[in-house]
Amino acid sequence: MGHGIAFEFAKFGHNVTLFDISLKNLNIAKNKIDKLISSSGNCDSYKKITFVKNLKDSVANAEIVVEAINENYQAKVDLYSRLEIFLDKNSLIISNTSSLLPSKLSKNLDNPERFFVTHYFNPPYNIPLVEIVPTLQTNSINIDKIKNLFCEMNKQPILIKKEINGFIANRLQAAIQRESINLVEQEIATPEDVDNIVKNTFGRRLSVAGPFEIWEQIGWDLVEKILLEIFPNLSNQNSPSTLIEEKVNQKKLGFSTNEGFYKWNVKKKEKLINAISKNLILLRDLDTNE
Ligand SMILES: NC(=O)c1ccc[n+]([C@@H]2O[C@H](COP(=O)([O-])OP(=O)(O)OC[C@H]3O[C@@H](n4cnc5c(N)ncnc54)[C@H](O)[C@@H]3O)[C@@H](O)[C@H]2O)c1
Repeated sequence: MGHGIAFEFAKFGHNVTLFDISLKNLNIAKNKIDKLISSSGNCDSYKKITFVKNLKDSVANAEIVVEAINENYQAKVDLYSRLEIFLDKNSLIISNTSSLLPSKLSKNLDNPERFFVTHYFNPPYNIPLVEIVPTLQTNSINIDKIKNLFCEMNKQPILIKKEINGFIANRLQAAIQRESINLVEQEIATPEDVDNIVKNTFGRRLSVAGPFEIWEQIGWDLVEKILLEIFPNLSNQNSPSTLIEEKVNQKKLGFSTNEGFYKWNVKKKEKLINAISKNLILLRDLDTNE
C-alpha cells in the first residue's frame, strides 16, 4: 500500500519521502512507482518522490507521516515511539491500519493529539474513498487538515464517528466473508458458486447503490419479512472458521503460495488483477466525467 499512497500524494504535487525497513522492498516500491509514472504520462510531479534508506532522514521536516507497515501492533507502536523522537511536535502521525483501534495504537504517544487513522483501499490511486478514524484525543484541527488535503486530491474522506475495530468497510466485508465461508463449509455452495453469485447479482449494483439505498428501493416491510426468515440461520461465529485455519496450516494462502480455495498461476493472477484494475479505472473515469 505504501508505494500507492506515496504515488498519489506526489501526483497531487506534494513532496514525498518513502522509507521501508527492507531495502529490497524499498526497491520493489520504487519499481512499482516507476511503472505507475510511465503509464500515467505525467512525469514532472513524480520527481517529488525520494527513496530514503533510514528512518530519521526520511521524516526530517515531514509535516505528515503515513505509516503503512505490516499489520502488527507492536511493530507499529515501536515505530511511533521512534518517530516522536525525530518529528516536530506539530507533525501528524497517521496509520493505514486495517483493523487496529487507533486509541490502542496511540496510547503510548507523548502527543496523542497528532494521531489518527486514514484507512485507504487498494490500490489507493484508483479507489476514491478513505475512512478517517480519530480517537477521542485527536485534535480536530488535524482531522480538518487531512480532510482538506484529501478534497484537493479528489478523494472522498469519510469521518467515522466513533472508533470500532475494522472501521466500516472491513466490518461489512467480514460479514460477507463469514457467511461465504459458512455456506462453503455446509457444502451448500462451492467457493466458485459464491464468487459468481456475488459478482453477477448484488455485486453489480454495489458500485452505484449502497445497501441502505437498495433496501429503501425494496421497501423496509419486505426487508423485515425476509430478514425474519434468514437471520436465525446466518452464521454468528465469533472467530475465523476452522476452514480458514486449515488453509493457513496447509500454507494454502492464496496468491502468495499459488493455492488457496483456487489454484493460481502467474497468468491467472494477472488476469484477475487486470480485470479489477480495468473496472476501477472505468468507474474512476465515470466519476470524473459526471
Ligand atoms: N493490502 C491492502 O489491501 C491494505 C488495504 C488497507 C490497509 N492496509 C494496511 O496497510 C498496512 C500495510 O499493508 P500492505 O498490504 O501494504 O503490507 P506489505 O506487507 O505489502 O508492506 C508492508 C511493508 O512495511 C515494511 N515494514 C515493516 N516494518 C517496518 C518498519 N518498522 N519500518 C518501515 N517499514 C517497515 C515491510 O518491509 C513491507 O515492505 C497494514 O497495516 C494493512 O493492514 C492494507
